Amino acid sequence: MNARKISLGILATAAMVGSVTVLAVTQFNPSARQKPGRLETAVMQRVKFWAIQRRASAPTVQLERTPENLRSGRSHFEEHCAVCHGLDGRGQSLIGRGLNPPVPDLASPSVQAWRDADLFWIIQNGIRFTGMPGFEDTHSDTETLQLVLYVREFARLSDQDRQALLEQAAENNQGHTHAPGEEH
Ligand code: HEC
Repeated sequence: MNARKISLGILATAAMVGSVTVLAVTQFNPSARQKPGRLETAVMQRVKFWAIQRRASAPTVQLERTPENLRSGRSHFEEHCAVCHGLDGRGQSLIGRGLNPPVPDLASPSVQAWRDADLFWIIQNGIRFTGMPGFEDTHSDTETLQLVLYVREFARLSDQDRQALLEQAAENNQGHTHAPGEEH
């Protein structure tokens, strides 16, 4: 390859990088208020689905759906998750409404279709490039599984249950206690 060809190649590459940058700056709107389009959503959902299913493995602890486990799951949810997901998991909180990608309805078939192992992985690791944080450093496996159990509860709620939940939670925003110095 002679020098002329090489410099032409460099020039062509520079022109391409330049045009892509100009396109990105002019076409890409970084506003969180710009909701993702259908194509972006479909592609990202697929990628996320494969990536999580490949990584998630069954947690070592198994938990029964006991009132005590549900109570603990609810308490952690209301403390750490409801700020974005809403007390009823519908994602209609003040913060949830402003996030992009949006906060999904946790009762929806697309969320409920995840295996328990996937939900466990999602809560521990979070989802990069979205507002979903990872909680592994602050929650034990048991607490995470209690959260998984509680996320499943949203699919069982009737409209009446939801209403009661919203009212009750607004009334007694308590029940989540920590020993001094405990972080979660
Ligand atoms: C700061 C906001 C925020 C907090 C706090 C938060 N989430 Fe999320 N969560 C999100 C967003 C945004 C998404 C959507 C991610 C995406 O588009 O893939 C999400 C997605 C999820 C999903 C569904 C994943 C999917 O793609 O189907 C589950 C389940 C979930 N969160 C559970 C929780 C639990 C449990 C907690 C608390 C321990 C929690 N989240 C705390 C913002 C939050």
